[in-house]
Amino acid sequence: MDKSDAKKLLGGEFSFVFDNIDSLLQEIKMEKNSKILDVGTGEGKMAIALALNDYHVLTGELEGDESKYAKRDWFKSAKKVEVDHLITYTPFDAEKMPFEDGSFDVVFISGALHHIEDGQAAYNESVRVIKPKGKICIFEPNLRAIGTIREKKFADHPDAVDPREFNHTHKLSLEIKKTSFYDAYIFQKVN
Ligand SMILES: C[S@@+](CC[C@H](N)C(=O)[O-])C[C@H]1O[C@@H](n2cnc3c(N)ncnc32)[C@H](O)[C@@H]1O
Repeated sequence: MDKSDAKKLLGGEFSFVFDNIDSLLQEIKMEKNSKILDVGTGEGKMAIALALNDYHVLTGELEGDESKYAKRDWFKSAKKVEVDHLITYTPFDAEKMPFEDGSFDVVFISGALHHIEDGQAAYNESVRVIKPKGKICIFEPNLRAIGTIREKKFADHPDAVDPREFNHTHKLSLEIKKTSFYDAYIFQKVN
């Protein structure tokens, strides 16, 4: 489906986030057959944005997460815009991922790192499961976005985190890109 039709169908919030994600995807420049993991499915905005750009994506969230941020019916939205066939869902714990070392070209953690109890463990696991030269793309809402989320959706939404604090021991290279909603931290394994 054409991206502008998908945006109309899914409406305001999705459409706005897709625009932010699309500008970041242009920076990340992934091959079409990249092996991609999306950590923390939630409403599926990240997974659906990737699929609308013709990427296959494996996504998942913590099994038994009963918080209001989980099990957000991503499948219904993906089906509505006809990309459900590009998205595979499997529940997993980001702090202890059930994947082999070097399984993925890119790991995305979008709007999710601040919801994960042990962010350092999730970062360590992301480093482990990417291939040499693989990337970890962490999108965290900026201060203004956090304000909007608290005002319009979740009054008790946590603060964003700065993932640079988790990279000290790993020393992956880092590029930071800013959009109107997300600060994007694009880490890359040197080899
Ligand atoms: C706000 S949602 C993320 C938004 C989503 N990425 C999107 O694009 O719509 C936060 C997600 O983090 C997940 N999460 C929290 N702790 C987790 C963990 N330890 N392992 C995996 N997922 C976790 C929650 O289950 C939820 O799906």
